[in-house]
Amino acid sequence: MPKSLPFSISRSMALQGLLEEASPPAGARAPGRAWTPGEAPPPAGAPASPRPQQQAGLRLLIVMGKGGTGKTTVAGALAVALARRGQKVLAVSVDPAHNLGDVLATHLGPEPQQITGAAPLRPPGGARAGGHVRDARWQPGLWALEMDVRREMDRYLEQLAGSVRGAYRYLEVLNLGRYLETLRFSPGVEEQAVLEAIGRLRSLAERDSFDVLILDTPPTGQAMRLLSLPAVSVQWAEQLAQVRRALLERRAAIARAVGPEEATLGGEGGVRLQLPTDPRHDEVMGILLDYSARSGALQQWMRDPALCGVVMVRNPDRLSGLETGRALQDLAAFGIPVALGVLNRMGRPLDAESEAARGGQDLIRLFISGFEARVPGSDPEPLDLPFPVRAVPLRDPEPSGVEALAEVSRSLVD
Ligand SMILES: Nc1ncnc2c1ncn2[C@@H]1O[C@H](COP(=O)(O)OP(=O)(O)OP(=O)(O)O)[C@@H](O)[C@H]1O
Ligand SMILES: [Mg+2]
Repeated sequence: MPKSLPFSISRSMALQGLLEEASPPAGARAPGRAWTPGEAPPPAGAPASPRPQQQAGLRLLIVMGKGGTGKTTVAGALAVALARRGQKVLAVSVDPAHNLGDVLATHLGPEPQQITGAAPLRPPGGARAGGHVRDARWQPGLWALEMDVRREMDRYLEQLAGSVRGAYRYLEVLNLGRYLETLRFSPGVEEQAVLEAIGRLRSLAERDSFDVLILDTPPTGQAMRLLSLPAVSVQWAEQLAQVRRALLERRAAIARAVGPEEATLGGEGGVRLQLPTDPRHDEVMGILLDYSARSGALQQWMRDPALCGVVMVRNPDRLSGLETGRALQDLAAFGIPVALGVLNRMGRPLDAESEAARGGQDLIRLFISGFEARVPGSDPEPLDLPFPVRAVPLRDPEPSGVEALAEVSRSLVD
């Protein structure tokens, strides 16, 4: 009987699904030339299946790991590989210390920018029908951006200010400026702003028919706070909604006894307002329910093994193994599935044949080294890890640019 981890991780099929839907590796057919919209249609008999995303929904791959293990390099390599296979890919760095642009050897800003050289080398099936592009917005390829976390914070605080200003417009003593400055430095606000931005990017990616959103994240602790936020937010909003409901019930009881509570808008002689007692007409309740629904939708997306998967990157050293073990345990607790384990910067090449013969056990053993003490049972027993593991060798020079990343990706997805 294979041993399994002492915590239960669900296996994500998101990456596998993308690879199965995509056309075969580009190099196999039309070397050295990118397909561009406007060319002759693909040969007769090419599959005319509908867009993968129409069948399955936007996929989310979250690349995580200890600082400096190669998250950005792996995120870039996966992005290039999937784009070359005909998927429409949006790669986003949410690490405030960005280097996705460095890895792709291009300058990136906060708006999606197409990466040249990462388009598929042949048109994927279904892109065209009868010589016409079916959906003018859809072209395969890679787009990338580095999120401006400061700008997202400003936007989030501005949006909050708008809501508070609207819901409490009768409170003249409210010092909104001070309230927002305090919020800016409150724990969790940066993560909340990033999460709101991810929600917006998701809508944008769906609107523009992207197949996959790849997130390059900051080191484990910070990334984990981000990923835990949707679940925490849903609970928090539900509790606040209960408090608000109790307040409205009390207000309703007072209104029945002594008449409705009123406030004056615009100072003395201004418009008289009746404060709501019904949750359906209460603006604050509306804001809470809307927030809860948005957080819940993200949580659902991140927990769906068909759509979302973490790519966990580690190096061979013990400390990065220990951190990986803790991260996997946290992911299991949050219900976020794992798509792939990556042993990056392997100093010694693994024997591919013996690897195949052992069903990946050498790699799995290496991947769990550092936290194997948590796995009960004796060593020679095979370990039933719920996700595949790939090794990427230490490369010299360090990978930079689309072609170098395509090389790295051969260890990941070929
Ligand atoms: N397989 C590899 N072979 C050689 N160098 C690599 C490999 N993978 C990554 N590197 C190099 O290691 C360094 C760290 O890689 P990278 O920036 O991708 O890691 P990271 O986990 O994103 O780091 P951070 O936590 O700072 O965001 C970079 O200089 C990168 O070029
Ligand atoms: Mg990085």
